[in-house]
Amino acid sequence: MLQNLKPLAPDKILQLSQIFNEDYRKEKLDLGIGVYKNDLGVTPIMNSVKKAEKILWLNEETKKYTNLSGEPSYLNAMKKLILADTIDEDRISSVHTPGGTGAIRQGFELIKIASPKSKIWISNPTWPNHISILNYLNMKCEKYKYFDQYSRSLDFDGMLLDLKDAKPGDIVLLHGCCHNPSGVNLNQNQWQELTRFLKRNRLLPFIDIAYQGFGDGLNEDAYGVRLLAKECEELVIAASCSKNFGIYRERTGILFTIGNNKALKELSQNTLAFLNRQNFSFPPDHGGKLVSLILNDKKLKLNWMTELEAMRLNMLKIRHALVKQLEIRSNSNRFSFIGKHRGMFSLIGATKEQVIEMREKHAVYMIEDSRINIASLSEKTVPMLADAIIHVGV
Ligand code: LMR
Repeated sequence: MLQNLKPLAPDKILQLSQIFNEDYRKEKLDLGIGVYKNDLGVTPIMNSVKKAEKILWLNEETKKYTNLSGEPSYLNAMKKLILADTIDEDRISSVHTPGGTGAIRQGFELIKIASPKSKIWISNPTWPNHISILNYLNMKCEKYKYFDQYSRSLDFDGMLLDLKDAKPGDIVLLHGCCHNPSGVNLNQNQWQELTRFLKRNRLLPFIDIAYQGFGDGLNEDAYGVRLLAKECEELVIAASCSKNFGIYRERTGILFTIGNNKALKELSQNTLAFLNRQNFSFPPDHGGKLVSLILNDKKLKLNWMTELEAMRLNMLKIRHALVKQLEIRSNSNRFSFIGKHRGMFSLIGATKEQVIEMREKHAVYMIEDSRINIASLSEKTVPMLADAIIHVGV
């Protein structure tokens, strides 16, 4: 049997970490996988998380199975964080999933069950794993314009023009904030226009929100998802706590469906729990407990929000430092777009050849599409990146 297996193409993001680790040079820069690093190059455990772990350790009395859908305290806290009180409780179903990826995977599976003929429209570009999972599930997908290579900003008109080809009932996968890989996002007016467009064309939005709090702030980053929840009859949301709580390896995600009545809530909840049972049975518990302890305690929540805001501001500071260094070296403001992007990532618009040259000659590692992870830079390492970008002629 095993001889029938075929070698699979490696995941570009994960593969880059491996190549980086094999580089013997002392001065090297890993701008690949999306993890936040502090000035010392460490991905720290947040203080609020440490405190919650202590409380959990002291109070947890059993490790018996939890609920199939996850702990209600976690699900409710996340509902509040993402949706605030924008919509009626009777419309929302949710399950705890292993990470945001687990939520995306099960969201797609739910669509496959409920609407097998629908096409999934994905932004060009998008997180490569979206495409990989859709291909794996044999689901039809099509790209819509998103990133304008020339201005390195959003091609909103192109996006709507492409989406005009979508059929009623098709799904439009959107990044709630901090678009991965481009760093380019919709402003509030564009969210409003897009919402009207989706409603008019009877398209169903699916929001992937993995970086809430990393862009313009916790509420600001949830503007699009809350608007869609309020305005659209149906919505699917996949969210992650990996980044904003820094609990990457705890695999803490959540999948929501929003319908327009209570009967649909029950039906959806039933399917969501079924999908958990088929895929892994009970969800992991530790990360969800930490998140609910933090979000349900005033002091801890404030502590977490302060830490998250510090990370966000640090990423912004680095963005601006990079823009400045590039401005000095290029004697132009052609890199100012980096200061307008938000979140962990920016697509800097280098060619594949330039990316490889930066790797080989400058020991600067970014994803092949020229995505850089701003959150793994420090003010000390910014000049090294700026040198490499200018030397290869971006
Ligand atoms: C990324 O895009 O780097 C992160 O979302 C991590 C991952 O799993 O790819």
